[in-house]
Amino acid sequence: MSVTVPAIDPAVFNALASRRSVRAFKPTPVPMETVRQLLEASSRAPSGTNMQPWLAHVVTGAAKDRVCQAVLHARNTENDKHVAEYNYYPNIFPEPYKSRRRKVGWDMYGLLGIGRSDTDKMFAQTGRNFVFFDAPVGIFFTIDKALEIGSWLDFGMFLGNFVTAARGAGLDTCAQAAWCHYHTVIRSEIGFGADQTVVCGMALGFADNEAVINQLVTERAPQEDWVRCYDE
Ligand SMILES: Cc1cc2nc3c(=O)[nH]c(=O)nc-3n(C[C@H](O)[C@H](O)[C@H](O)COP(=O)(O)O)c2cc1C
Repeated sequence: MSVTVPAIDPAVFNALASRRSVRAFKPTPVPMETVRQLLEASSRAPSGTNMQPWLAHVVTGAAKDRVCQAVLHARNTENDKHVAEYNYYPNIFPEPYKSRRRKVGWDMYGLLGIGRSDTDKMFAQTGRNFVFFDAPVGIFFTIDKALEIGSWLDFGMFLGNFVTAARGAGLDTCAQAAWCHYHTVIRSEIGFGADQTVVCGMALGFADNEAVINQLVTERAPQEDWVRCYDE
């Protein structure tokens, strides 16, 4: 009888497999010591020539409330003026990305009972980004504008570590590109330099598992679609 030996340590596997984007958090605080441990562990990420291009701006309490209010005000009064500094998405989505993107959107709005033409409710739901979905900790990640695309790759590795490490600590996250549009507001509220670009925000806290939105389970394409093995 053959015995399957798990290739991945169960704790590591569980941290990876249980991660999902959480969009409703409990008010339970997260100690700053824990946040620092997560960041420290994440900084073990590899980076080209060990450049470590990441910068994390952690906001809690009054600082978090202030930046959230400023961004919500900007969004409600002068939304058109706010444009992200980099294109996270292409202008035209080819397949299969277009269908995947649509599916996750409709699955989420479907759970919330928001119809396809209910743009006001969609706007309100998207606005939940700008209170970090009520998470007790918000983080803005920024990168030096002098750096190139390779450093963004390094940054992604760091962020991957962060969301996985958070799971290892019983915490949940939601990476948030939505904040990028409001980089000028965030910059002036937080006080970082014009040499920094906002890569993304991150909500960190304990998931509210009663919240309907946290029932969202996203799919992954089967390996047949994206793995190619060559052995001769
Ligand atoms: C860099 C990055 C930015 C994201 N930005 C947002 C965002 O602004 N708002 C949001 O609700 N989800 C955001 N997401 C979450 C994605 O929608 C989510 O990862 C995807 O649908 C897969 O779902 P899962 O994370 O639950 O596996 C972002 C994810 C990444 C990696």
